[in-house]
Formats: sequence, structure tokens, C-alpha cells
Amino acid sequence: MNVPLIDLKAQYKKVERPLLRKLKEILSEQRLILGKYCSALEETIARYAGVPHAISCANGTDALILSLMALGIKEGDEVITTPYTFFSTASSILLVGAKPVFVDIEEDDMNIDPVMIRSALTPKTKAITLVHLFGKVCDTRAISAIADKHGLAVIEDMAQSLGARLWGTMCGNFGDIAALSFYPTKNLGGIGEGGMVLTKRDDLAERAKKLRIHGMGGTAYLHELVGINSRLDEIKACALVEKFPYLETWNKKRIANATYYNRQLKDLPLKLPKMDPPGSHIFHQYVVRTEKRDALREHLQKKGVATGIYYPLPLHLQPCFAYLGYKKGDFPVAEEASLTSFALPVFPELKTAQKEYVVQSIREFFA
Ligand SMILES: Cc1ncc(COP(=O)(O)O)c(C=O)c1O
Repeated sequence: MNVPLIDLKAQYKKVERPLLRKLKEILSEQRLILGKYCSALEETIARYAGVPHAISCANGTDALILSLMALGIKEGDEVITTPYTFFSTASSILLVGAKPVFVDIEEDDMNIDPVMIRSALTPKTKAITLVHLFGKVCDTRAISAIADKHGLAVIEDMAQSLGARLWGTMCGNFGDIAALSFYPTKNLGGIGEGGMVLTKRDDLAERAKKLRIHGMGGTAYLHELVGINSRLDEIKACALVEKFPYLETWNKKRIANATYYNRQLKDLPLKLPKMDPPGSHIFHQYVVRTEKRDALREHLQKKGVATGIYYPLPLHLQPCFAYLGYKKGDFPVAEEASLTSFALPVFPELKTAQKEYVVQSIREFFA
């Protein structure tokens, strides 16, 4: 049997017919950028996340850059973040001229450790970029308490966590501003690149809206700010509008698949993801940890089960960040996670027989 890590074709089948009809309409009307589908997507996501402002843009990396720019983060500023995440959580900080300051992660959910944030504060610290990694909400209460006490902005990197909630509150509500990605493999994935900025703050929304179109306000070719070009295409927004109604069901299926794995694998020498409190993990990835990772992955590959490593090298050890002066041993929890963790297929369309086969193949390895 073959079990892929994700099956985008199965997901596309759900929306194919209505989407093709609408794409034809967009192409014949030739309103191609920031039109009615972008507005519809912005309204839909804002309502869903429970925030007043949603500003679509070209991708999740730009959403992070626009968030930092809207906050006025600049050269000379420091932004505290996690080294165990996708590259652009940190590169966005450098791209606006500021310095990323890494701190280690928590052992349990591999999210940024609030205790470590305290020890990294300096007079230059202006913000914290937190990541709800793999779809699991961070310890937002502890992080907000630190941010409030020290007057820091909080940016939520929610590229992997649209729909995750902590005690009923949705991601996107835990900081000043949040960045979303619609990369095709995300829980709400598009038919190309896409991103969005979410915020409760009117001032940040106004700035982000201008910054995504070269800093222009209401008047064409009058540039109030130095912005970037990061607009969303109508055909991509349209696909996301078509897919959105399935998001909650897809997230529930991911949670059901993760629950199945957690039950079936609990007696094995694997560190399994924690699911508490309910709804706080939407399993963008189902990540387990074992010292035998590489051998187990090789075994699974031979059995036809695809797996992935997120992430094989923590950001403080990336060659391009060497000049920041970090070294091996600085963040032991993140470093260990990068050596022991890997993701199993958890996508919504996973069939029962495939899940059973994944479990059976893992049990065979440990037997
Ligand atoms: C945690 C995290 N941050 C940022 C991004 C960047 O998003 P994009 O690929 O849409 O630029 C991603 C997605 O790849 C991500 O997983």
C-alpha cells in the first residue's frame, strides 16, 4: 500500500466543478487582482477568526513582513522568536532590518518557551513573533503577560493554525497582528501562493492595507509609505472561497486521525503530540519523536508510507544566520527535536485502511 504525506488531488476533487465555472468567469471578466473574491475571502476569514480586519496578500512570508512593517519594526530593534519553525518566521524579521533573537522551545509541544523569552529581553526588544507550530496553540497567556509588562507587540505566525482555538478563542486573537499562509499544503490551502494579515487594531490594518500596495492610500500613485507589492490574485482567492466551507470538517478529520494514532501508538517508545485542551491542536502536522527516527523513517519508506521532517536544522544553526553568533548547544530542546521528530500522514482524506497500515507498519518496526 502507498500512503502519501498529503493528497491534494483528493481535496481538489471536492471543489473542481464550481471552481472551474468561477475561474472561467474571472478570466472572461478580467478583474484579476484584489477584486470581489479577495474581498469575499477577507470578509469570510475575518468573520471566522473573529477579528475586524483581514488583509489578503501574496503569501504567508509577506504577511509576516507586512505585520512587522505595520508595527514599525525596523533596524536596531530586536524581535524574540523560536528557532524551531519555518525559515520565514525569522527571515521576515531580518528583511525589515531588525534582529531575530532566538529562545528555546518547550519540551511538550515544541512551541516557544515563555520562561526563555524573559531571559532574552533587552532594551532593544520590540516584539515577539510566536508560532502555533504544527497547528498547536502556544502558551499565549504567559506570552501576553510578558508582552504587556514590557510593552512589546505580539505577532502570531498562524500559517499552520487557522481554526485552532484555546478555550474557545481562535488563533489570530492572541496578539496585535497575525500572519496566515494559504500555501497549497496548509489546512486551508490554495491553488498557488497566498497569505493574509489579521488584526484587531484599526491603525495596523490601515497601514498593512497601504503597505501591500506600495504604500498607496486612496489616491493612485500617491505613496504615503514605502510599501511592497503583495496583492492576492482573484483566481487564488476564488479557490480559497470555494474551499473555506470545508475547513472545519477537514480540521475535525485531522484531529480524528491524530486521536486514532495517539490511541494506537501509546504503548510504543514514541513521544506523541498532546491534544489538550480540546480544539487547541488542529494537526497541520502530526509529529512524533523517537531516537530511532531515521531507521523508522527508512522502514516506513520501504513499506510505502511517506513521512516528513519539520524541521531538520533549527534556524539558529542555518548557514545564513551564522553571523548572529549562535552555536550548537544554545537551544538543546530545539536541537533535539530536529534530530528526533518526524511527521506521519494526517491529511483529512486519509482512509481507515491507510491509517491502520501506518500503525501496523510502525508496530512492525518496534517488534
Ligand atoms: C510557520 C510558518 N511560517 C511562515 C510560513 C510562510 O508562508 P508562505 O510559504 O505562504 O510564505 C509558513 C509556510 O510555509 C509556515 O509554516
